[in-house]
Formats: sequence, C-alpha cells, structure tokens
Amino acid sequence: MSGRFITFEGIDGAGKSSHIEALALWLRARGQRVVVTREPGGTELAEALRELVLHRSMDAMTEALLVFAARRDHLRTRIEPALAEGSHVLCDRFTDATFAYQGGGRGFDAEVLQTLEGWVQQGRQPDLTLWFDLPASLAAQRRQAVRRPDRFEAEDEAFFARVRAGYAARAAADPGRFSVLDAAQPLDAVWQQVQATVEARPWW
Ligand SMILES: Nc1ncnc2c1ncn2[C@@H]1O[C@H](COP(=O)(O)OP(=O)(O)O)[C@@H](O)[C@H]1O
Ligand SMILES: [Mg+2]
Repeated sequence: MSGRFITFEGIDGAGKSSHIEALALWLRARGQRVVVTREPGGTELAEALRELVLHRSMDAMTEALLVFAARRDHLRTRIEPALAEGSHVLCDRFTDATFAYQGGGRGFDAEVLQTLEGWVQQGRQPDLTLWFDLPASLAAQRRQAVRRPDRFEAEDEAFFARVRAGYAARAAADPGRFSVLDAAQPLDAVWQQVQATVEARPWW
C-alpha cells in the first residue's frame, strides 16, 4: 500500500521542526516506515538550490522558480519513490509555503504559482497538511531566543503577517487537506493536537 504524504507548514518559529521528528518516532513505534525530509531541499540538487534561495539576493520570481525546480527533483527522486514503496513522507514545508512566502510575503502572482504547481506536481498533493498557526509576534520571540536569521527569517513582522495570511487563504481553499493547529499553545499541548489529528485520519 502506498504511504501517506504529510506536510508541516507555518511561519518561521511556529514549531514545525520541533514536531516532525516526534511524529516520525510515534509512527515508527507503530511499525510504520517513515521518511523525514524538508523543502526547499531533500535531495543533493535541491539542497544546493536551498542554499542559494536562503542566502543569495534575488527577486520573487527567481525564488519561486528555484523552489519549484528543487521541488521537482525532490518529488521525482525521493518523495514519489518513498510513497510508492509504502513509506510515509513527513515534509517540513511544501508548496503551501511557496504560496505563503513568495505569494503572500513577497506579493508574487498566485496564478503563476498555480501554473508552476500544476506542471511540477502533476496532481500530487499532500494527504494531510498540518498548519502550525500563531501570531507573527510570538514566532519572532521564539526565533530570537535561538537562531541566526536567514534571508526569510530576517524579514519584519509585517512580512510574516502577510505570510500567515497566505497560509490562511490556502487553508480556506482546501479545508479537507488542512488541519489548523493552535501553535501558540505550550509545546506539549501542540503535540497533543498533532497526535490527535493524525490518529483521527481513517488510514491506520
Ligand atoms: N509550543 C511551543 N512553545 C514554546 N516554544 C516553542 C513551541 N514550539 C516551538 N518552540 C520553540 O521555538 C523555537 C522554534 O521552533 P521550531 O520547531 O524550530 O520552529 P519552525 O521549525 O517552525 O521554524 C524552538 O526553540 C522551539 O523549541
Ligand atoms: Mg524549522
């Protein structure tokens, strides 16, 4: 049986990385095979593109083209083969992030993004998207405590408010795929939401 494709979304500092490994451990403890990966990245080529996107200066269209190029390689050579052999794929960010960051954050044309999405994904969509939603100000506080910002993390609160609105629009357009989590809650309460959401799917 084919594996399930679960994506983790939300602004920087929302808690995606904190929960992806926990979910992998939880699924493996139930005897499931799991691949944990991320975007942009997940293959040698896509990780090289990630370095460029996160650290070189470029316009929004170039960013969008590079992340979709990375996604194409990632889907073809890693995600699709893993799903086909029955592994679940947990991916830290996917196409919703492109709509949120390049579309919402940078104001790039969402129709062009939809065209690229169609070309690159050929109809493939995540089975479930966990959106870790929280106010931009709280995410900024969490990030400041721990890390050195990349090109996106260095953006101001207004940028992250637009990114959050971009996610909200994607969630509203596909409510069956999205699960909106209240990521402002303490870590353990957010984990309870993750676990309950995944467990409630009719797949197990
Ligand atoms: N619910 C939470 N409450 C408090 N701190 C959190 C919570 N979730 C994550 N953090 C902390 O916030 C920081 C960013 O979390 P992280 O999982 O790296 O976010 P993301 O991967 O979404 O950018 C980390 O230091 C993490 O420990
Ligand atoms: Mg992270």
